[in-house]
Amino acid sequence: MKSLSLFTLTLLSAHLAAAQRMVGYYGIFATGANCTGIPRFVPELVPAHMYTHLNFAFSNITDDFQMGVTNPGTDEAMYARMNALKKINTQLKTAVVVGKCLGRAFLNSAARLVSQLLTILASWYCIAGGWSMNMSYYSLLVSSAQNRATFIASSLKFVRQYGFDGIDFDWEYPSDTTRGGQATDPQNLVLFMKELRAAVNAETLTNGTSRLTLSIALPGGPYHGQYFLNDQLAQYVDWFNLMAYNLHGSWESIAECAAPLYDPAVGTAFSGYSVNNAFTSMVPTSVDPAKFNLGISFSGDTFTLNTSQTTPGSSASGPGTVGWCTKEAGTMAYFEIKTLLSGGNATAAVDTVGVCSYLTYTSNSSQWVGYDDPSSFNSKVDFLKAKGMGGISVWAMDADTTDFELTTAVTTRLYNKQGWLNNVIPSNGTKSGAGSLAVTGDVVARVVVAVIVAVVAGFAL
Ligand SMILES: *[C@@H]1O[C@H](CO)[C@@H](O)[C@H](O)[C@H]1NC(C)=O
Ligand SMILES: *[C@@H]1O[C@H](CO)[C@@H](O)[C@H](O)[C@H]1NC(C)=O
Ligand SMILES: *[C@@H]1O[C@H](CO)[C@@H](O)[C@H](O)[C@H]1NC(C)=O
Ligand SMILES: *[C@@H]1O[C@H](CO)[C@@H](O)[C@H](O)[C@H]1NC(C)=O
Ligand SMILES: *[C@@H]1O[C@H](CO)[C@@H](O)[C@H](O)[C@H]1NC(C)=O
Ligand SMILES: *[C@@H]1O[C@H](CO)[C@@H](O)[C@H](O)[C@H]1NC(C)=O
Ligand SMILES: *[C@@H]1O[C@H](CO)[C@@H](O)[C@H](O)[C@H]1NC(C)=O
Ligand SMILES: *[C@@H]1O[C@H](CO)[C@@H](O)[C@H](O)[C@H]1NC(C)=O
Repeated sequence: MKSLSLFTLTLLSAHLAAAQRMVGYYGIFATGANCTGIPRFVPELVPAHMYTHLNFAFSNITDDFQMGVTNPGTDEAMYARMNALKKINTQLKTAVVVGKCLGRAFLNSAARLVSQLLTILASWYCIAGGWSMNMSYYSLLVSSAQNRATFIASSLKFVRQYGFDGIDFDWEYPSDTTRGGQATDPQNLVLFMKELRAAVNAETLTNGTSRLTLSIALPGGPYHGQYFLNDQLAQYVDWFNLMAYNLHGSWESIAECAAPLYDPAVGTAFSGYSVNNAFTSMVPTSVDPAKFNLGISFSGDTFTLNTSQTTPGSSASGPGTVGWCTKEAGTMAYFEIKTLLSGGNATAAVDTVGVCSYLTYTSNSSQWVGYDDPSSFNSKVDFLKAKGMGGISVWAMDADTTDFELTTAVTTRLYNKQGWLNNVIPSNGTKSGAGSLAVTGDVVARVVVAVIVAVVAGFAL
């Protein structure tokens, strides 16, 4: 019986291999904007019917190397609300993300590192949580057999206790000595994943439970990416999420889209960063590309130009004016970009090399925003399908419009059908065909409660 269910599981995962995954990352706090028309992105606002997997960031690595609740007394309720989304989409799977955000001060002083990183959500989260990441815990965790065993046992217990279906790792980055890494990190990470995989499989065999998924978020390029031994890790993980976004940004002195499909900056000091480069450098030829999801971002990057030239590659002096709601230097949520586009002041154009969009605004066109829209996401989905990749992973689901324009576009292209998944009926009473959960009385009530809870708990921005 048990071997039969294992066999069935194997068949299932083989079946799911081709461009099927739609993974969304969510900060466990009710993070995000709280602006007019843009309610704080509480779990109930996640378009659960458009995702196959949701990753909740972050759990803690405690001083004694157990998986722990980051904010005891608060996060548990969020886990429950997240996992309750499985009632809306019965095929939805959830994973807890192991990793901690960087301190805000660190984010600002080491802008280059941020290029691969969890910018918007992570920085909010850090202010909210009031503590900084110390990545050396990752290094210490994988470097000792005892620490690995402690963490593995505690993480299986944790995940089952709170009703998650998997574990995602977000270590930024092994062997990064500026962040507490060591030279031995890459091989130790392989050993750790091997042992974790064995424990996960043993748990399934012993207890007849469905097998937990294991996944790793990867930087979108060789910078830091070289320290992930993907050819070896691939034996133990179910998939990798390739963070092929925030590749360019206002730390550079030319304006480029954050996540161009092909390298728009050939011949400059900023060459080598694109989705295509990320794929080439991070997906070993020995590994099935279906193990990799293409990471996309629903935020654009902003620049202030300092000459009259406005085409991609134009000279820039720094980040652009902050978005009206997110107010984050250097990035802008898609819903804010839409406001610029509909306001009549912006001039939009396509970067035909980067296969992405950009706009300029203000009277002398000195404000520049690079972004992905439904059209450029179509090209990215076509790219990942042509490469045989396994799906999509989305950073910052809350940067989409409230009627989920981007999520709908991406899933529609991914599945060649309407923007929701097989057998999942979107909840009705929605304001658009996208089947958003937004704005029922119940959701409003829950948003209000969540906001009050957040304020009382002192986590409000
Ligand atoms: C989270 O982990 C850090 C060590 O990385 C530890 O100092 C802190 O006490 C932990 N928090 C909780 C709530 O366990
Ligand atoms: C990070 O944690 C390690 C291990 O406890 C410690 O040695 C180191 O001082 C910490 N670094 C910072 C910046 O707190
Ligand atoms: C099986 O489940 C029991 C009870 O939930 C747990 O104590 C045990 O550790 C599990 N077995 C494995 C191999 O994880
Ligand atoms: C555009 O206008 C702003 C303010 O009106 C000015 O500060 C800036 O220097 C101008 N930029 C260029 C490239 O002319
Ligand atoms: C524009 O700003 C960049 C970055 O500060 C600088 O390198 C460049 O010289 C500036 N160009 C002009 C024309 O001011
Ligand atoms: C938009 O254009 C109007 C009219 O030209 C101008 O008054 C306004 O300041 C512009 N807004 C922005 C954000 O550039
Ligand atoms: C719910 O809305 C969708 C999209 O508008 C529609 O196709 C479907 O028939 C509706 N279902 C029910 C039960 O009303
Ligand atoms: C959200 O915005 C409303 C309206 O500005 C404000 O009253 C409320 O305090 C805000 N809540 C949080 C948690 O920031």
